[in-house]
Amino acid sequence: MTRAAITGLGTAAGHNVVTNHDLAKTLDTSDEWIVERTGIHERRIGGSCLELGAQAARTALKEAEIDATDLDLIICSTCTPDQVFPAVSNRIQNELGATCGAFDLNAACSGFTYGVSLAQSQITAGMKRVLVVGVDTLSRFTDWDDRTTAILFGDGAGAVVMEPASSEDRGVLSTYMGSEGRFADLLTCDFSDLFIRMDGKEVFRQAVRVMVAASQRVLADAGLKAAEVDAVVPHQANFRIIESAMKRLGIPLEKAATVLDTTGNTSSASIPLAMDSAVSKGSIRDGDLVLLVGFGAGMSVAAALLRWGK
Ligand code: COA
Repeated sequence: MTRAAITGLGTAAGHNVVTNHDLAKTLDTSDEWIVERTGIHERRIGGSCLELGAQAARTALKEAEIDATDLDLIICSTCTPDQVFPAVSNRIQNELGATCGAFDLNAACSGFTYGVSLAQSQITAGMKRVLVVGVDTLSRFTDWDDRTTAILFGDGAGAVVMEPASSEDRGVLSTYMGSEGRFADLLTCDFSDLFIRMDGKEVFRQAVRVMVAASQRVLADAGLKAAEVDAVVPHQANFRIIESAMKRLGIPLEKAATVLDTTGNTSSASIPLAMDSAVSKGSIRDGDLVLLVGFGAGMSVAAALLRWGK
């Protein structure tokens, strides 16, 4: 099987910083409460999916040293598209000057990892260069009068170029895409008001469970153990969710990449944003065993295990 490797990575953050103190001016909440219950200090808000997604994609293409016209496919993961249609990916394709096929996928906050899994299968099938963009602008669907949700979300984008790994021991080792539709009502954004509604406590409980199960599954599929993982890049929803999942997996918390203190939950963008930060800090290096694991509305869940490097 040809393995796909990440050869370029780029990100973009929402335009404006909104701190917990800013939110406490209009909501019955406090910086202390938000930090203690979520780990979030501030989030970035503003920008369209096209703008943020294209910015992240340009950086990823530059890092991969390829032109947009070299791409075979663009997959854009988003649950907050700028329009019902056309897909954000079509507009990103045009903005970049690419000529390949393009489509959006919606697996909520698991979408980026679903995209990595699909890119891997397309590369196994013969494609050479696939761009996966994760972008969401949840601020547009946030009820800013609801303190139980307004504190959590932000806007952002991340993108990776995936190509066949140049060495046999690099690239994606195993992937998992899951769905537990019986929990679909726990987190919704309905056409009736277009606001995010959520049973936070139950989402928390189920999130930890599905993250652990998906992670264990990709490790088992690759014949590897949790102790061998060098870095975990989890979905950035709540620091306490990450803490609980890491504990249950038996992986030290220091191995988890986190950016949610400054980004909030950016849905599809959260894993590439955390990955980019970990790479910049040197916590993900060539040859490292890296576990991506996301969960979200659906309830969707996805994991990917990869050996970092081209
Ligand atoms: N500021 C102050 N108080 C708040 C508050 C806020 N922003 N939000 C809720 N509260 C209050 C509640 O009203 C409740 O008050 P009560 O005890 O008088 O009824 C109390 O704080 C505890 O609320 P609870 O919902 O039990 O808090 P929690 O510890 O579960 O934290 C979340 C709430 C939303 C932060 C947490 O459940 C969570 O992060 N869940 C997962 C959400 C998620 O990840 N969603 C996206 C998935 S992709």
